[in-house]
Amino acid sequence: MRISVIGCGYLGAVHAAAMASLGHEVVGIDVDVAKVDALRAGKAPFYEPGLPELLTSAGATGRLSFSTEMADAAGADVHFLCVGTPQKRGEFRADLQYVEAAFTDLLPHLGAGDLVVGKSTVPVGTAEDLAARLEGTGATLVWNPEFLREGFAVKDTLHPDRLVYGLPTTDGVPTDDGARAQTLLDEVYAAPLAEGTPLVVTDYATAQLVKVAANSFLATKISFINAMAELCEATGADVTQLADAIGFDDRIGRRFLNAGLGFGGGCLPKDIRAFMARAGELGVSDALGFLREVDSVNMRRRVRVVDLAREVCDGSIVGRRVAVLGAAFKPNSDDVRDSPALSVAEQMRLQGAHVTVTDPQAVPNAAARWPELRFADSALDAARDADVVLLATEWDDYRSIDPAALGAVVAHKRILDGRNVLDPAAWRAAGWTYRALGRP
Ligand code: UGA
Repeated sequence: MRISVIGCGYLGAVHAAAMASLGHEVVGIDVDVAKVDALRAGKAPFYEPGLPELLTSAGATGRLSFSTEMADAAGADVHFLCVGTPQKRGEFRADLQYVEAAFTDLLPHLGAGDLVVGKSTVPVGTAEDLAARLEGTGATLVWNPEFLREGFAVKDTLHPDRLVYGLPTTDGVPTDDGARAQTLLDEVYAAPLAEGTPLVVTDYATAQLVKVAANSFLATKISFINAMAELCEATGADVTQLADAIGFDDRIGRRFLNAGLGFGGGCLPKDIRAFMARAGELGVSDALGFLREVDSVNMRRRVRVVDLAREVCDGSIVGRRVAVLGAAFKPNSDDVRDSPALSVAEQMRLQGAHVTVTDPQAVPNAAARWPELRFADSALDAARDADVVLLATEWDDYRSIDPAALGAVVAHKRILDGRNVLDPAAWRAAGWTYRALGRP
């Protein structure tokens, strides 16, 4: 198949390379010249394990190209919309300006029989609006939400855990165009479908809702366990043991029950807010009232860790040296959007602490956005003479850090385990004051 992928961020760049590796002829399009130059040179413009190798192998087939010109999308059979939908400044709603711009630019290049496939996370109703604008072009819109996780994006794209097609329907049945669209998309995803990947074929509204429902559920699961952490703090219980114990129930499951600093990133926080905003527009805001609480629990964890730092520093962090291990919103990523680690680091700086942050991959991105923070190249450098160390992002390097080695460089052996990944006994045995969220 000939495919265009519009938007080459975390989603689109991986999708373009993955589609080429599956045998399709792909052009990736982005307005960012630097990004396109990097991708053309076979370099990933951000840190994503496996992507450089995929770009190299797909590039070598001659089937993968990148361009800044939307005109180069002309001639493709299938056009994937992969642009970002960030939170609107000062509002909960999603900012659809990039979807709007990409779609408007693409329109004149569409031919009869083309498929436009939306992958961006959008408020329900967006697909219906876009489909109406395709009338008369002979092109068909499909909504095909993406569930990839940063850090595992290559695997999640090549071997997704499910595929969802939102097709044009009448009375719940795909139209002729919808049926034809499904045949084309089945060809695009022939490899994962042959592996037995579950496929849900549905209408536009359901497909758009599936995505935000999934992210809302994940956010709720994390905030649930973080709410339990608050109870554990009030009672002396241990939230990690509580999570293990409830997680043995298959109906609950242990995944996404890691209590700590909570969720950040470019997806979960803005998606639950955009979903609440959309529910309000639809007159059903009560249905998602709980997401407001999910958001509040999540934000309270950031405040709690600053309080913990104050507690271990005898009541004040003013003038204290704080080392923050981790800047990315999660390990195996250099993405710092709404990073809990940086939000806490900045709070402590504003409250008078001298904060030094380190991260295996995210320091350049973090320094660009938070120029007032100080950065170090390694955990040992960041922790030199520190009064307190905060583990904020659970990279393997930090999980396995040697308490004795770190203890040799700090001024005071005080560790805050913001992700509940260290062994309290080992750290205490090495002379550290160990504190964590939701643990005695
Ligand atoms: C999330 C979803 O997991 C993907 O399925 C979805 O496709 C993606 O958003 C998206 O909408 O594009 P991602 O943002 O990459 O993926 O990150 P997650 O792995 O979901 O982690 C989100 C945040 O939750 C991180 O800050 C992580 O540290 C935190 N988290 C995760 C916890 O605090 N506790 C947990 O148990 C799990």
